[in-house]
Amino acid sequence: MHFQLSEEHLMIQKAARDFAQNECLPGVIERDELQKFPAEQVMKLAELGFMGMMVDPEYGGAGMDTISYVLAIEEISKIDASVSVCMSVNNSLVCWGLDMYGTVEQKKKYLTPLAQGRKDGELYLGAFLLSEPEAGSDATSQRTTAEDMGDHYLLNGTKNWITNGNSASVYLVIAQTDVAKGSRGINAFIVEKSWPGVTVGAKENKLGIRGSDTHSILFSDVKIPKENLIKENGFGFTFAMKTLAGGRIGIASQALGIAGGAYELSLKYSKERKAFGKEIMHHQIIQFKLADMATRIEASKLLCLKAAYEKDQKQDFTLSSSMAKVFASETAMWASVEAVQIHGGYGYVKEYHVERLMRDAKITQIYEGTSEVQRIVIGRSILK
Ligand code: CAA
Repeated sequence: MHFQLSEEHLMIQKAARDFAQNECLPGVIERDELQKFPAEQVMKLAELGFMGMMVDPEYGGAGMDTISYVLAIEEISKIDASVSVCMSVNNSLVCWGLDMYGTVEQKKKYLTPLAQGRKDGELYLGAFLLSEPEAGSDATSQRTTAEDMGDHYLLNGTKNWITNGNSASVYLVIAQTDVAKGSRGINAFIVEKSWPGVTVGAKENKLGIRGSDTHSILFSDVKIPKENLIKENGFGFTFAMKTLAGGRIGIASQALGIAGGAYELSLKYSKERKAFGKEIMHHQIIQFKLADMATRIEASKLLCLKAAYEKDQKQDFTLSSSMAKVFASETAMWASVEAVQIHGGYGYVKEYHVERLMRDAKITQIYEGTSEVQRIVIGRSILK
C-alpha cells in the first residue's frame, strides 16, 4: 500500500486547480447571486477533457481513472460547486452509465458527444432523471410510466430537481413499465430534450449551488424508440443504483472540495486577522478548529480515494462510495459553518466566499442519496 499520487495524477490536480483559480473564481459571486449557469466554464472544462474523464477515448472520453476524477472535482469544488455538480452529473451519472451499459450504437450516437461535452460547437450535456415529486429517497416508487406499445415506449410523468435540467440535451430517464413487478418492472431510457412532449419546467430558486440549473421535467406522451432502452427490460432500477454508487464518489469529492475551500480560506484569514493583540491563529480555540478541519478533511479524502481505487480495480464500491459521501458531506457542512464562525462578521458577507461554501455544502447531504439513505446502504452492507 502506498499513499502517493502519480506524476499524472499530480498534473491533473494542478490543471484542475489552475482552472478553478483562473476560470471559476472570476465571477463566482455574481453567478451565485444571479443564478447564472456557468456555460463558459463548462465549455472550457469540455475542452480540457473533463466532461467525460473516465470514458474510453474510442467514445470521445479522456480515458482517465476515477482517482483523477476525484482530484479534479475536489479542486474545482473548492472554488465553484455549481461548476463541479454539472461536471459530476455528466461524468458519473450519464457518461459512466452509458459507457458501462449502453449498446455500441447508443455509445456512438450519445456517449461520444456527451463525453466531449460538445456537439457542432455547442455544449452537449446529460442529466439523470430519477427523482419525482413523490419518489426521492424511496426511489422504487416511480410514478413516471413508460408503457410498452410494441414498437416504442410511451413516456408520461414528472421528474423533479433535475441538475442540468435545461442545459442538457440528453436525459437518462428512469420509469415504471410494469408496476406489478415493482423495482424489477423499472426501465432506463435515453430521451432527447428536443423530442415532442418533453417540457422543461420552472427553474428552482435554491439555497446553494445557485449557478447550477435545476428544473422539473415533464413528459406527456413522449415516444421513445425501442433502441433507446438501456440494456434490457427490467434493468432500470439496478441501472440507477449502480450509476448512483459512482455518482456518490463525485458528490463526496465535491463535498471534500467545499470543505477544503472553507479550510484554506480560514487558514489564510487566521494568519491575517488580529484580535486581542495577536493573529487569531495564535488563539488555541482557532487552532483547535483548524486542526479538526484538517483532520476530518484528510479522512474524507482517504475515503474518496479508497472508493475511487475500488471502482478502478473493478471491485464492488457501493459501500465505500456511501461511506465517502456521508462522511465528506457532513464534514463539508460542519467545516463550512466553522469557517463562517472563524471569519466572524466578514464570514457573513458574500465577498469572503465562506457563506456561499456553507450554502453549497448543504446539498451534498441531500442529492444523490441523502445522508439517511447512505446510512441505509452502509447498514445493509455491514449487516449482510
Ligand atoms: N446494485 C444493484 N442492485 C441493487 C442495488 C445496487 N447498489 N441496490 C439495490 N439493488 C436492487 C436490490 O437487490 C433489489 O433487487 P431484487 O428485487 O431483485 O432483490 C432492488 O434493487 C430493490 O432494492 P431495495 O429493496 O434495496 O430497494 P429499497 O426500496 O429498499 O431502496 C434505497 C433502497 C437504497 C433506499 C434506494 O431507493 C436509494 O438509493 N434511494 C435514494 C435514491 C437517490 O439516491 N436519489 C438521488 C436522485 S439522483 C440526483 O440527485 C441526481 C442529480 O441531479 C444531482
